[in-house]
Amino acid sequence: MRKLFKGLHDFNASLDPRFSLAENWEQYLDEHLKREWNGARSLTLIAWEGERPIGLLMLAGYSDSPLFQYRHWAEILALFIDPEVRGGMLALRFVRMAKSWAKDHGYDRIQLYVTATNERAKRFYQKCKFEPVQEIWRLELGDGVPDFVFDEDDGDYGPDNDPLTPKPHNVGEDD
Ligand SMILES: CC(C)(COP(=O)(O)OP(=O)(O)OC[C@H]1O[C@@H](n2cnc3c(N)ncnc32)[C@H](O)[C@@H]1OP(=O)(O)O)[C@@H](O)C(=O)NCCC(=O)NCCS
Repeated sequence: MRKLFKGLHDFNASLDPRFSLAENWEQYLDEHLKREWNGARSLTLIAWEGERPIGLLMLAGYSDSPLFQYRHWAEILALFIDPEVRGGMLALRFVRMAKSWAKDHGYDRIQLYVTATNERAKRFYQKCKFEPVQEIWRLELGDGVPDFVFDEDDGDYGPDNDPLTPKPHNVGEDD
């Protein structure tokens, strides 16, 4: 599980170093899995070829601020297929299972983030009928910017402090 998760994030970081994993990523992953392992709010699938793990899909229910009317969706947090078995049916089967999990749990859509230069993944998602609805734009501020100081314990991640989902803005949060 960790190997596949790291494979995915090493690949993402090779496209964009801003997606590098934190030093203590394993702790956060374990925390997420302990809380969420195939509970009512998430789905984690690992595919095996004999003893070898060859594919990982992680999906979770996501809630934005109560400020928004349509604030619940299912989100693909991770999708990774071992390079040796890419081009088969595994990724497609994962997405089909994700769709049926999301429908069964009352979600009307699945969303995901994909790096703009990840052409293969974009082609794959297009094949699965996903389409882009928003873009993330970035302005790098360069050297000389003081480190942003924040409290590591302030729950500054995820809805319900889930370490694998980013925290949306705070406007209208009920806590
Ligand atoms: C994205 C991923 C899960 C898709 O699984 P896959 O088994 O490779 O998917 P497929 O081969 O069915 O689909 C990929 C499509 O890209 C095409 N493709 C193959 N190699 C490619 C390349 N180097 N560049 C662009 N497109 C490529 C394939 O031909 C296929 O399109 P087609 O069916 O029209 O021919 C898998 O490639 C992967 O794990 N990538 C690394 C991790 C990743 O990017 N995860 C998604 C993060 S959001």
